[in-house]
Amino acid sequence: MKGDTCSLAGYTVRRVGFGAMQLPGSGVFGPPRDHGRAIAVLRRAVEAGVNHIDTAQFYGPKVANELIHEALFPYPGDLVLVTKVGAARDERGGWAPAQRPGELRTGVEANLRSLELDQIPVVNLRRLPTADVEFGDQVDAMVEMRNEGVIGGIGLSNVTLDEYQAARARTEIACVQNAFSVADRSGQGLFDACKQDGVPFVPFFPLGSAFAPDNPILGAAAVRDVGARIGATPAQVALAWLLHLADNVLLIPGTSSLQHLEENLSVGSLELDDEAMAALDRVGSS
Ligand SMILES: NC(=O)c1ccc[n+]([C@@H]2O[C@H](COP(=O)([O-])OP(=O)(O)OC[C@H]3O[C@@H](n4cnc5c(N)ncnc54)[C@H](OP(=O)(O)O)[C@@H]3O)[C@@H](O)[C@H]2O)c1
Repeated sequence: MKGDTCSLAGYTVRRVGFGAMQLPGSGVFGPPRDHGRAIAVLRRAVEAGVNHIDTAQFYGPKVANELIHEALFPYPGDLVLVTKVGAARDERGGWAPAQRPGELRTGVEANLRSLELDQIPVVNLRRLPTADVEFGDQVDAMVEMRNEGVIGGIGLSNVTLDEYQAARARTEIACVQNAFSVADRSGQGLFDACKQDGVPFVPFFPLGSAFAPDNPILGAAAVRDVGARIGATPAQVALAWLLHLADNVLLIPGTSSLQHLEENLSVGSLELDDEAMAALDRVGSS
């Protein structure tokens, strides 16, 4: 890995950040099982140098943002909070689209309130394709909010390569957050485009997610073999692989565990040699 920082919407962030999606209760719904531990995880992350945290008003809903506020407010001056808009939760935890321009604004306003910010450094437009909302109108709504100053930078999430290019033709894009991992290269074209354009790429589900019943990464033989050879856990190998791919990759692994947090934070110093990279490259293509 070359540098350990990257520019994100004009801020310098460490490439190993933190994703807050694992902090609320099971299914990203309701309060955490252990409130004190959730607070401790957030404080430890920042104490250890994390200055890029990914969240959403719809994690909980509201729970992740309230935990971030409780643990970290007043925020350190260099902390870059990134949220996303485009979804809502029903009273039973179901996920619903909230993609219309007015709903995107409502989402930003809810994040501003719960995080107690005047401006959110970066907001991702989290795309859930719906028949009745034009992507261009969504991007325009985000631009309007950035012009008003309530958003610092506009990110895109869950977009296609075509959507990314269409959005870039309209405005500056601060980052792209799509699923991508050693076991999921379906977004390779978009990954390559971001690399070429120097746009930060923030893979979600870098460890295979908490949703998959059989984790496709942590149990993969090649990942485990590399880990055994270099003295690292499978999670560390999977994260280090992402960091080694390109300097524009920013990590936001999600965890509710202090032990996993420590593991994840130490991947910046993990070296993967050519043999390891070649073995790991074969995981996604098998
Ligand atoms: N834009 C989007 O649509 C979108 C979608 C999904 C996620 N995200 C963002 O991306 C972040 C990362 O994705 P994610 O949290 O869903 O999935 P992930 O980071 O791929 O995996 C999280 C799972 O891995 C476990 N884990 C974490 N560190 C570990 C370690 N060192 N060893 C073993 N297991 C470990 C966690 O359990 P423990 O809690 O037990 O550690 C959890 O079950 C999220 O937190 C969220 O901020 C964005």
